[in-house]
Amino acid sequence: MVDEALVARTPDEIRALSYEWRAAGKTVGLVPTMGALHEGHLSLVRKARSECGKVIVSVFVNPTQFGAGEDFDTYPRNLENDRELLSEAGCDAIFAPGVAEMYGEGSTDLSSGERTFVEAGRLGDVFEGKDRPGHFRGVATVVAMLMGAAVPHRAYFGEKDFQQLKVIGRMARELHMGVEIVGCPTVRESDGLAMSSRNANLGSEEREAATVLHRSLEAGAKLAADGEKDVSTILRRMRGVLDGEPLVEPKYVAVVDAETLEALESLGERSARILIAARVGSVRLIDNIALPFVRSE
Ligand code: PAJ
Repeated sequence: MVDEALVARTPDEIRALSYEWRAAGKTVGLVPTMGALHEGHLSLVRKARSECGKVIVSVFVNPTQFGAGEDFDTYPRNLENDRELLSEAGCDAIFAPGVAEMYGEGSTDLSSGERTFVEAGRLGDVFEGKDRPGHFRGVATVVAMLMGAAVPHRAYFGEKDFQQLKVIGRMARELHMGVEIVGCPTVRESDGLAMSSRNANLGSEEREAATVLHRSLEAGAKLAADGEKDVSTILRRMRGVLDGEPLVEPKYVAVVDAETLEALESLGERSARILIAARVGSVRLIDNIALPFVRSE
């Protein structure tokens, strides 16, 4: 039997707990999530557990990061199950507010222009931000709100959402939030597919085809590891792999500078990352991989 994690419903409640812990000399870690938890989320909780005296996990499906016609209404929600998983993983408090607790009673029109938002800047305009306008504005805003409510020393994010990790790291730094942003490696299924709450919406053929994202990333990374520096050659190899799965419609594939997310033409001294997004049936999937450092002679 494990101790049930406390559930706080309002920003004031979670802030009071966090202040209490901080006053007792504990390091407070925050793991923001939208629930429907899987091993990827739980790996963040365990990492936080190993580094912090107290761990808060927020479970909030944030309306402002979903565009019109996206899956806000159908996004999976299962707080009871999440609570069990989190109690087992060793979380001290769950912050699970409703939309009204976060955005205020009566603020049904979140796009009225009345509210305060955090703009993510150029990092939030490219790739996912280009395909999903306003997405990172919603993410940056809600993460700033969660930090304000939970006042953590550290906050944990997955590399699975690499662009999100970079947007949030930059926000925390530039807005002097005093929160250390910790990136955690992507957790994958045994066939390489990155774990995601959205994988549940894939049909069985789509589920199999979806592994091509990871296979193409591996092919690109292998070429780079073998010494290929020309990005167009790497992308050509990756497209060859992707073409083998007609159920998968690539949205973008790019080799970028891992800090600025600027597209690269050749690999050099700076650390690089391959980013990929694709639509499989009605599901949008993203993934990425680090490229080995290539030193010029
Ligand atoms: P969500 O998709 O629920 O993800 C919560 C956290 O879990 C994110 O930091 C994400 O990168 C991480 N994560 C998801 N799948 C992972 C995997 N396979 N391996 C490692 N980490 C993984 O991302 C969000 O929610 C929201 O945008 C949020 C930051 C909570 C703001 O609303």
